[in-house]
Amino acid sequence: MKIVEVGPRDGLQNEMAPIPTKTKAAFVDVLSETGVGEIEVSAFVSPRRVPQLGDATQVFGRISRKDGVIYSALVPNEKGLDRAIESQVDKVSVFTAVSETFNRKNINTSLKGSINRFLPVVKRAHIEGLPVRGYVSTAFWCAFEGKIQPEAVISVVVKLIDIGIDEVSISDTSGKASPEEVKRLLDLLLPKISSDRIAMHFHDTYGRGIENVLVSWSYGTTIFDSSVGALGGCPFAPGATGNVATEDVVKALEKKGEKVGVDLQKLSRARRLLDPFLTEDRRSLPKDGSPACAACQYSTREVCCQR
Ligand code: HMG
Ligand code: MG
Repeated sequence: MKIVEVGPRDGLQNEMAPIPTKTKAAFVDVLSETGVGEIEVSAFVSPRRVPQLGDATQVFGRISRKDGVIYSALVPNEKGLDRAIESQVDKVSVFTAVSETFNRKNINTSLKGSINRFLPVVKRAHIEGLPVRGYVSTAFWCAFEGKIQPEAVISVVVKLIDIGIDEVSISDTSGKASPEEVKRLLDLLLPKISSDRIAMHFHDTYGRGIENVLVSWSYGTTIFDSSVGALGGCPFAPGATGNVATEDVVKALEKKGEKVGVDLQKLSRARRLLDPFLTEDRRSLPKDGSPACAACQYSTREVCCQR
């Protein structure tokens, strides 16, 4: 079993209040002691689009790396890869989606455009000895396009594998997947792609995240993305809440007899570090009475789909 702790990236990218760089680094350092195998530290994306993670270089510069832990980051393009290599990341993650609408809003290109962007990223990352993960967002539902068909997801996964991506993270961006939908996708996916190359990334908007983790586990997947304290959400996926909580994933898998090797007390210490900075409503809905955007219902300039 491997837990990929995505809290410092997926968790903090949607926080409205600024979190000091030194607190983020301390958060990663405490997470390093918990027993998680991999920590997604930050994202080398446009700081104008995701100002919350604009200090990715500085965070990487401050963390104390523990042997055996993989420190990864999101990389959208070659510029991001340059920054990631300078920061001595251990692994990079590119990201695309099945939904064309979500891709436009999130990464300002189409699925095809994103694959073309990834080609030089994958090639150079491999030359540098870095493994590459590929996220497939909106793998079940899209906030803009609705239900996503599993066949379409599989076609994107196969495209990523074909360009040399090492591991694919199947992502329920909106947190709306049901266990039946997860089964349907895995029934079609796992005969094609070995389960050791598949990670499952559940957001927990409708409270089915743990059921979805357990269904995936029953199919033999062993890599789970989660976020301590269920922090998180994508600023470009209106309505989505945080990732499934790392604490809950650890407890659920251990109940099934798995040795996950993650210390719950240390996880709790990591999350408490952020307490002074977390806002109550991570969905950033208008608090000042300002009108919400007609398309996405968000009013805050940083997260509105129309800005
Ligand atoms: P673009 O196509 O160049 O256009 O960027 P843009 O208008 O979106 O951004 C352009 C600006 O970004 C320019 O700067 C570029 O220089 C700069 P400006 O002239 O405005 O000052 N830029 C960069 N700066 C730093 N590092 C870079 C970089 N690239 C361009 N690497 C891009 C395309 C994808 C980069 C941009 O749209 C972007 O950064 N989008 C943010 C995407 C993002 O971080 N989304 C959230 C993470 S994805 C997620 O949460 C889903 C996941 O958790 C799985 C799931 O749950 O589904 C992974
Ligand atoms: Mg996510």
